[in-house]
Amino acid sequence: MNFQSFLFRLKRLIIPVLRNPLLLFKIFNIKKILKALKSLSNIQVSFKDLKKDYQITTLFKTFEKISLISDINLNKNNFLIKETKIDDLEKKYLNNDNCEKLKNLFNQYGSDKTKSLLVYVYFEIFNNFNINSLFEIGLGTNNISVRSNMGLDGKPGASLRAFRDYLGINVYGADVDKSILFEEKHIQTFFVDQLNIETIKNIKSLIPKVDLIIDDGLHQPDANLNVILNLLDHLNSNGILVIEDIEPSFVDIFQIIEKIYNKSENFKSSLINMKNGYCLVIQKIK
Ligand SMILES: C[S@@+](CC[C@H](N)C(=O)[O-])C[C@H]1O[C@@H](n2cnc3c(N)ncnc32)[C@H](O)[C@@H]1O
Repeated sequence: MNFQSFLFRLKRLIIPVLRNPLLLFKIFNIKKILKALKSLSNIQVSFKDLKKDYQITTLFKTFEKISLISDINLNKNNFLIKETKIDDLEKKYLNNDNCEKLKNLFNQYGSDKTKSLLVYVYFEIFNNFNINSLFEIGLGTNNISVRSNMGLDGKPGASLRAFRDYLGINVYGADVDKSILFEEKHIQTFFVDQLNIETIKNIKSLIPKVDLIIDDGLHQPDANLNVILNLLDHLNSNGILVIEDIEPSFVDIFQIIEKIYNKSENFKSSLINMKNGYCLVIQKIK
């Protein structure tokens, strides 16, 4: 290359840069470097690494919105129990002699179903439906190291005895605490762990289909869903499943479950506000 030719090429490079100095950035690709630097300050934190409280609130808000979707086309007259506040059922049966009888039986045997006002839910069910057999998860252990225990003064089998005496029927019960299982007149009990689906399914080979299933066991939504998903088919036609003592923090989950079952032709459902929590009732129509 001769000198003249070199000068010519240099001029060709310099003149455009003099006209537009930004071209210099192109050479070093500074824009890309700046972009990379900027992205460094904007690192995404994955949802699972956020604070646990925030994660839970977000999930519940999501449930609320799903619940709004399921409101569309909901048949609002389909509820199994119309009173969705326990106060209304309490008013309805406050001075009813038969309801007093049931209350006294729960108290006499040591169940807390009168104190928790659940007695009104059962009285409403017994008044309106034929309950000839019953299965309850949760006998009421007095072993304080087992979750959902009834304290040292707990009387295992209390509610089963009250139901048996009031209805005069065969009742079946089950519990995770093997040491409190028992058998007596018209009562048989079995082992179940609500967190172990196989033990729930196994119940179906031990007892006949029943008219009423009660979940008064662990009181945790995944355990409740194990019961719903695996025992609803062990109800007779028009049979009813009751999930007791739902904590207020889980209400969104159970509102959705209630709506899903109300949308189905084969079920009716009601979520009852119990003051300190909720109680879900599902009836199998077919
Ligand atoms: C509140 S007590 C039941 C009270 C009784 N139904 C009454 O009204 O007298 C709850 C029972 O659930 C049982 N339980 C706890 N976890 C369980 C689980 N994973 N599966 C089955 N039962 C469970 C406890 O052992 C306890 O006996």
